[in-house]
Amino acid sequence: MGNVFSQCLFIPAAPLTEKNCPDQTGRVFIVTGGYAGVGFELCKILYAQNATVWIAGRSAPKAEKAILDIKNASPSSNGHVKFLHVDLSDLKTIKPAVESFTAQEQRLDVLVNNAGVMFPPRGSVDAQGHDLHVGTNCLGPYLLYQLLLPLLTKTASKSPTASVRVTWAASIAVQLFSPQPHGMILNDDGSPTDQGMRLNYGQTKVGNVFFAREFAKTTPQTGVVHAAFNPGNLHTELQRHWKGLDQWITEKFFTYPAIYGAYTELWAALTPELTPDKSGAYVYPWGRFGDLPAGVETSMRGESEGGTGIAAKFLEWCRKETENFA
Ligand SMILES: NC(=O)c1ccc[n+]([C@@H]2O[C@H](COP(=O)([O-])OP(=O)(O)OC[C@H]3O[C@@H](n4cnc5c(N)ncnc54)[C@H](OP(=O)(O)O)[C@@H]3O)[C@@H](O)[C@H]2O)c1
Repeated sequence: MGNVFSQCLFIPAAPLTEKNCPDQTGRVFIVTGGYAGVGFELCKILYAQNATVWIAGRSAPKAEKAILDIKNASPSSNGHVKFLHVDLSDLKTIKPAVESFTAQEQRLDVLVNNAGVMFPPRGSVDAQGHDLHVGTNCLGPYLLYQLLLPLLTKTASKSPTASVRVTWAASIAVQLFSPQPHGMILNDDGSPTDQGMRLNYGQTKVGNVFFAREFAKTTPQTGVVHAAFNPGNLHTELQRHWKGLDQWITEKFFTYPAIYGAYTELWAALTPELTPDKSGAYVYPWGRFGDLPAGVETSMRGESEGGTGIAAKFLEWCRKETENFA
């Protein structure tokens, strides 16, 4: 439990904030879910440092309001902030979003897979009929990344080492709300089994840890560096479907303002400490490397290396589920 404690309380000060973030002129970021919560705070910091920031999401009105707020917060910025329409819970929307993006941008420096849902009403599914947690938190981001990979790779080939990154939103749920000990339990076809609302969310956050580590295997070829992160326990709209005493206690005593989560995401996106040999690392709040549970590590090793191979099987299932939309 030591690692859980250190991610929730007495967290060391954020090493990278709006006060010391380096200038991002000429760099292009996509932040999924960038018009709310942690993603919004991250977009504000990046825009203030002259970045081009694309807020990827499904609601144009929410994006328009956020864009106004972001611009008003930094009137002297030379950056750009734009909306990219994508609904991660509908795989059909992802390729058109990527085509629109690549028609307008020549580079992509950082893809922040920030958007997510937690504890939607039981039975909620995505447009293709997958459990909504799996669809929004895993399948959508998987396909978005795959379709953006050629541009990320091209950008990495002409950019400083380890500066082109893809980051993946995990959570303390990796430790607390995922099936023990391996973080995910698969059906025969490689899909996550239904474990009930809480563990289903946790499994999809473990899925993001799997993405970071499995895709990191391609870093030597692509030059694209990966990290998964627990942003911290933040007071945002994420808890919109969570009701009850445990929610009240968590919110009252264990959550921090959303900007702290943005500091974690900023560090994962920019820290020089994330070198290619550390691709696939896990990041703790508010920006430092951290360990994963031993059982999750076992899932990320193949059977020939003494592991269970669960991560690789899950990724293969994601590939098959998304291939018709690529
Ligand atoms: N808050 C925490 O304590 C906490 C803790 C650990 C991990 N996290 C993770 O951190 C990330 C950000 O969470 P947050 O707290 O900032 O949550 P939030 O305030 O609820 O923001 C989530 C964002 O994701 C977007 N989103 C949801 N479904 C989407 C879809 N189908 N397509 C595109 N965008 C979609 C939301 O847009 P809409 O408004 O359109 O739904 C919203 O912009 C999540 O991945 C979450 O799991 C958060």
